[in-house]
Amino acid sequence: MRQPIMAGNWKMNKTEHEAADFVKELKPRVSGISNCTILICPPFCNLSKVHDEIVDSNIQLGAQNLFWEDKGAFTGEISAPMLKSVGCTYVIVGHSERRQYFGETDETVNKKIKAALAHHLNAIVCVGETLEQREKEQTFKVIEKQVKEGLKGLESSDFKNIVIAYEPIWAIGTGKTATPAQAEEIHAFIRKLLPKEVAAEVRILYGGSVKPENVKELMGQPDIDGGLVGGAALKADSFEQLIKY
Ligand code: 13P
Repeated sequence: MRQPIMAGNWKMNKTEHEAADFVKELKPRVSGISNCTILICPPFCNLSKVHDEIVDSNIQLGAQNLFWEDKGAFTGEISAPMLKSVGCTYVIVGHSERRQYFGETDETVNKKIKAALAHHLNAIVCVGETLEQREKEQTFKVIEKQVKEGLKGLESSDFKNIVIAYEPIWAIGTGKTATPAQAEEIHAFIRKLLPKEVAAEVRILYGGSVKPENVKELMGQPDIDGGLVGGAALKADSFEQLIKY
């Protein structure tokens, strides 16, 4: 059985104060929920504060990125041991915004995944096609390359710490969601790309304009195991509705 995950990717939003207020509001709303992994991924500077707030709760902490070296002269970067030290259990790797604006490639994604796994962090590996690629019917090819190259060299045993997020770029922040059938088609395809012995266990999240109005139908698909949510995860009441889909 794959336990669902509802993950809030805050992107570059919320000051420390706003982050703490959010958690104070969310915590009582979701206490007692044990059938869904609840995850929030604040900006780096708020990780420690959020960790203090979620202590003894059912909310887990994730980061939005990491660098693959453990330490050294890499100005502005953050390593897996640093994320562990502030209480992270998850890290998002290869979000499309990082690929698009910060030059991440399947090769850097692969190095980052390996660094996360080496330090026992769960990696949420993001894949997804642009609108142009979808219109040119390149979606399957693009996703296959991202999955295969991103996960290159992993052992079967590594997959217990891998989560995949399918986020079609044309659906991110646009209000335009993939239909449940469109999402399911790609999720099932991704599952087939995974090593047979682990495929049934790996959780595959959908991301792209997930909101309270569409979450139930998306989560009703057999291969959709949760959501990676931007906008609708920034307010405690809508994130609560997603968690309680
Ligand atoms: P939105 O939910 O705002 O479309 O963002 C999706 C996303 O990119 C989550 O990582």
